[in-house]
Amino acid sequence: MNKLAVFASGTGSNYDAIIEATKNGTLEAEVALLVCDKPNAKVIEKAKQNGTPAFVFDPKQYRNKQMFEAKIVEVLQEEKIDWIILAGYMRLIGDTLLHPFDGKIINIHPSLLPAFPGLDAIGQAFDAGVKVSGVTVHYVDSGMDTGKIIAQQAVDVEDGMTREELQKAIQQVEHQLYPATIQKLITRGE
Ligand code: GAR
Repeated sequence: MNKLAVFASGTGSNYDAIIEATKNGTLEAEVALLVCDKPNAKVIEKAKQNGTPAFVFDPKQYRNKQMFEAKIVEVLQEEKIDWIILAGYMRLIGDTLLHPFDGKIINIHPSLLPAFPGLDAIGQAFDAGVKVSGVTVHYVDSGMDTGKIIAQQAVDVEDGMTREELQKAIQQVEHQLYPATIQKLITRGE
């Protein structure tokens, strides 16, 4: 069984969707670890409830990114993690973590990349007035939301839709697309 480490910084609705898919058998993998860089994030409580082991750290307690990423690599290797699943982990991945897991780190982003990379992609799309936005799952490289695209799904921005309604529609798509895409990658054995 493939072992996943989910990296999250916030609410963890994608973590929930991935856990649910492992429980109902549509995703044949084990969420073996949560990695979280925000000691007060809601996702930590969710991990506790599900019995997912968590590595929670405060970047400010480390001298630099290289130091905390080296610690993360140690934990990932101890747990024999196969895939890193970024789910709202709001940090760029540095070389220390990228190299040992190259090609095994994926991210979900709430826009149709390459449009609207970076922070608040939903707000950026809303403010730009686009009629179609969506969700992208991609491999992670050293850039900001720049890695090779694996899957995308469009979401229509209906006339009169509020920003909150757009966010809800996008997240609904994320919660289906992410577990399904992970399952495809795992069964392809890439
Ligand atoms: C998700 O919408 C995800 O696409 C986004 O953060 C949200 C996390 O929500 N990620 C990015 O913007 C990455 N650039 P969640 O904590 O409820 O899963």
